[in-house]
Amino acid sequence: MIKACIFDLDGVIVDTARYHYLSWKRLANEIGVELTEADNERLKGVSRRRSLDIILELGKVTMSEEEKEALAEKKNTWFVDYLEQMSPDEIYPGVKKLIRQIGEKGIKVGLASSSKNAKAVVEILKIQDDFDVVVDGNMIVHSKPHPEIFLLAAERLNIKPSDCVVFEDAAAGVDAALAAGMKCVGVGSLALLSHANKVVSKTADFRVQDLEDLENA
Ligand code: G6P
Ligand code: MG
Repeated sequence: MIKACIFDLDGVIVDTARYHYLSWKRLANEIGVELTEADNERLKGVSRRRSLDIILELGKVTMSEEEKEALAEKKNTWFVDYLEQMSPDEIYPGVKKLIRQIGEKGIKVGLASSSKNAKAVVEILKIQDDFDVVVDGNMIVHSKPHPEIFLLAAERLNIKPSDCVVFEDAAAGVDAALAAGMKCVGVGSLALLSHANKVVSKTADFRVQDLEDLENA
């Protein structure tokens, strides 16, 4: 039985994944590294520091921990600048309706993001009351693909992992959901997320009736 749906935030509820990408690309350019959209797929769902390490690996750049801290902080400042321009109408169309329909079926709804900015995003979008629980990057040690964030969400919802479905746009997030023993709906490209139990191009393409198929997946 599916008793809880757990949503990732960036790229599933709102296109903040784009703002992460643009901020990382600007930072990468500053240190002479080219960051393509294809490489950026590896940054999705992972922590800020891990994202920076991937960029440094791509450019074969080495630097001290202090320098890395400063760069990660700089990227975050640019990301936060984007957030300050954001408004609730940037929520992907149909997502609030889907969340409401899930709730009407008596299924719990959680939000689980590796981002330390998730709470701010949720407040800007005014969606705090749409979720039974919100867990973010400040509450975990291991970021996706580790299952910790989803296991924490399930624990706070008081639902067994095997009764949870995760909605994820990141390959690392799909790995994390499956590692948690949950079902996973990939949001985005089938080629990149084929390990999910089902893939939709956009979050709102998922219909609440589709949950039944996932029970048998
Ligand atoms: C999410 C995004 C990642 C981002 C991570 C950390 O998982 O998908 O792209 O790097 O959060 O975000 P933060 O806001 O803490 O830098
Ligand atoms: Mg995401």
